[in-house]
Amino acid sequence: MTQPIKGFSKLSKEQKIAWIGENYTENVQNTKDILRQYWNNDPKLQQLHDEFIENTISNYYLPFGIAPNFLINERIYAIPMAIEESSVVAAASKAAKFWLDRGGFKAEVIGTEKVGQVHFIYTGNSENLFRFIGKIRPSFYAEAKSITEKMEARGGGISSIEIKDKTDLLPNYYQLHCTFETLDAMGANFINSCLEQFATTLKAKADRDGFLKEGEKLEIVMSILSNYVPNCLVRAEVSCLVSDLSLDTTIPPEKCAEKIVQAVGIANVEPHRAVTHNKGIMNGVDAVILATGNDFRAVEAGVHAFAAKDGGYKSLTNASIEDGVFRFWIEIPLALGTVGGLTSLHPMVQLAHEVLQYPSAKQLMEIVAVAGLAQNFAALSSLVTTGIQEGHMKMHLLNILNQMKATKEEKTTLVSYFKNNTATHSAVVEALDKLRENL
Ligand code: MEV
Repeated sequence: MTQPIKGFSKLSKEQKIAWIGENYTENVQNTKDILRQYWNNDPKLQQLHDEFIENTISNYYLPFGIAPNFLINERIYAIPMAIEESSVVAAASKAAKFWLDRGGFKAEVIGTEKVGQVHFIYTGNSENLFRFIGKIRPSFYAEAKSITEKMEARGGGISSIEIKDKTDLLPNYYQLHCTFETLDAMGANFINSCLEQFATTLKAKADRDGFLKEGEKLEIVMSILSNYVPNCLVRAEVSCLVSDLSLDTTIPPEKCAEKIVQAVGIANVEPHRAVTHNKGIMNGVDAVILATGNDFRAVEAGVHAFAAKDGGYKSLTNASIEDGVFRFWIEIPLALGTVGGLTSLHPMVQLAHEVLQYPSAKQLMEIVAVAGLAQNFAALSSLVTTGIQEGHMKMHLLNILNQMKATKEEKTTLVSYFKNNTATHSAVVEALDKLRENL
């Protein structure tokens, strides 16, 4: 059994690779070759990537694709997407094209409120605590001034600081529930710095101002932003005459519209379906978030909590048919940034922002929401008509052929063959075998 290692982080990159290769892989040379293959030729660029995280031994590539023709609020975007799953970029592009001819997407930001909390324990009288917080509230703002000054100059800052009694949930548990406006920054560092300062102020004031009575205690447990941001919300929508919803030549548009509404209805009452339905939405959302250097884990966590906000896990999209008009929309919480973090460091991220014409955080929220809506529209359009496998397997075809080390000529022949044949995994293997036998 491999023994634990001390001081791994202090080893050089070569030493780390050698250790991993020797202890965890069959073929050390092969391990070294693979890892080196993905190093950047430019040592400066490699160093930049090395320093994003700790113990970097190589780079992990994801394809970076473009879904063009997105008409959003009267402007045409080409949306960069970083994702490994075949079909996602194709589906987004197809949905973009479909809605381009039907007025495009309309999107609007409903709110930009970010949240953070100081969680603490207080064993005294709740009313005294509320009075005390009211008295010292100006100090929270004053003592955080050096952190908030620049943000305030740009129009953002601390929006509110509220004391909440949570003792019915957990003995002696209180929190400062704080909201922030962080403008074009995602704001995690800003919020966490403010919160830690609030905690310091609270503790110091409680200890020094004679607030605590004999035997009472006030202890900070932790200070951290919340990724649940239901008021950092964006809405995106498409609509057209039901008669224009011609998804498939074999199914009348009225039937397509009706089935999409039914599909959304099912996702609203059936969590097994809702999770997959929303996963499809996140295919689009995450791909743009990754390409633009935002934190997809934060968004994922917040989005799924939002989908469950009414007590059951539901669809993030909605669909309706009224007076002959089909409407399809999404409301989704997205805490995004277009300045700071990776946006100023990663050349591919910078390029993604340039391709999007340097959006503000609000514009990026709109673009991301549209990508999610488009993805869901594409998925539902296939699901309620031909089924998902037809398009999926066509896209997956190249992956299967690559796995089987098909040559360029073999790929061309088989891609053409599967234009008119059903591309299941076994059918692809069989067709390739046949092609090779016939040579
Ligand atoms: C696959 O990545 C996503 C879908 O399953 C989404 C859906 O079912 O709505 C196609």
